[in-house]
Amino acid sequence: MSPVPWIFSGSSRFASSDRETKTHPLLPGPPTSSLTDRFGQTQIEKKIYERGSTPAFARIGSMNLTGLIARIPKAELHLHIEGTLEPEMMMQLARRNGIELAYASVEDIRRAYDFTDLQSFLDIYYAGAQVLIREQDFYDLTWAYLERAASDNVRHVEIFFDPQTHTDRGISFSTVIDGICGALQDGETRLGITYRLIMCFLRHLSADAAMQTLEDSLSYRDRIHAVGLDSSELGHPPSKFVQVFDRARSEGYLTVAHAGEEGPPDYIWQALDALKVERIDHGVRCLEDPALVQRLVDKQTPLTVCPLSNVKLRVFDTLEDHNLKRLLDAGICATVNSDDPAYFGGYIGENFLRVQQALDLNADDILSLARNAFAASFLSGRDKRRYTAEIDQAAH
Ligand code: HPA
Ligand code: ZN
Repeated sequence: MSPVPWIFSGSSRFASSDRETKTHPLLPGPPTSSLTDRFGQTQIEKKIYERGSTPAFARIGSMNLTGLIARIPKAELHLHIEGTLEPEMMMQLARRNGIELAYASVEDIRRAYDFTDLQSFLDIYYAGAQVLIREQDFYDLTWAYLERAASDNVRHVEIFFDPQTHTDRGISFSTVIDGICGALQDGETRLGITYRLIMCFLRHLSADAAMQTLEDSLSYRDRIHAVGLDSSELGHPPSKFVQVFDRARSEGYLTVAHAGEEGPPDYIWQALDALKVERIDHGVRCLEDPALVQRLVDKQTPLTVCPLSNVKLRVFDTLEDHNLKRLLDAGICATVNSDDPAYFGGYIGENFLRVQQALDLNADDILSLARNAFAASFLSGRDKRRYTAEIDQAAH
């Protein structure tokens, strides 16, 4: 097999026309005054006091927040399974499949993970995924993620996979989905982690290619719960995929989409209005548009926020600049997730811990984030209530 065109020469499987220069650098967020206009101090205070006469943050000291984060049941709603490929496994699979990597060691691979924006990450991420060839590879990848998730007390996962990343290089749809679902099934049996599978379309490719992928997926309809939209955001607005999402909904799929990670608030509006999504993946740029914030609050449309990802891909300069706390205080149903943890430096537990420290989140913030994730999930109402009761127990 030929060497993987992997990082070394700057070569990419994307034509340069698919690349977009980042023209909308993200501001840390609107000035507090614009938030206070809409969600003034009294409303925020009201929210805090509505939570109970003795707020959890008054009862749980900051020393114990680490313990609280460790023991709360978690749901992960924004996780690309290809983004859990740790350098160690990348080396092992390359060896097992006779693929030549351009890097001699795990350390060399890790050193390359110095991203300037989403595209610089995606180039490396798609190249890395080329070591995934056989059903067993997809099984091993997914199983390794589930074991890590179990150690973070993750109880439910809704994971993304990108069939086009694999079918475009000759790997069959069934190889990919059989491997992933085999591990998910074993994870439910052996680790007690429930799951849903979400198929993402690569937005830098054509709407026709997405439609073909949707048609190919119908043979596996019973295993796929929802469809999503990922990859290069700028220049590939949600509106490009209206017909694909209309068809997906007519086939009974639920819908989600990445929007407002690097793209403008208008892409979030399009995802809501044109694609009719149940959740927005990322969505952090919503705070630039007060009317959009109002809409997200009114409808309680969840955002699957990924703090460490946002810093690694320079959406925010530092974790201290992240707007997660402001999203929560605005009344948005925000959740914490890990996105591509092998590339971004931490799984969900690490995301919770680091963002708690950086933003000085209190116990009520942590509990809200955990409850929001189950509320935002595709679980049944009964399961949501069961997990929420467990979170309430963990608070005491
Ligand atoms: N954004 C868009 N596409 C992706 C991401 C992301 O954060 N991770 C994997 N594919
Ligand atoms: Zn993502």
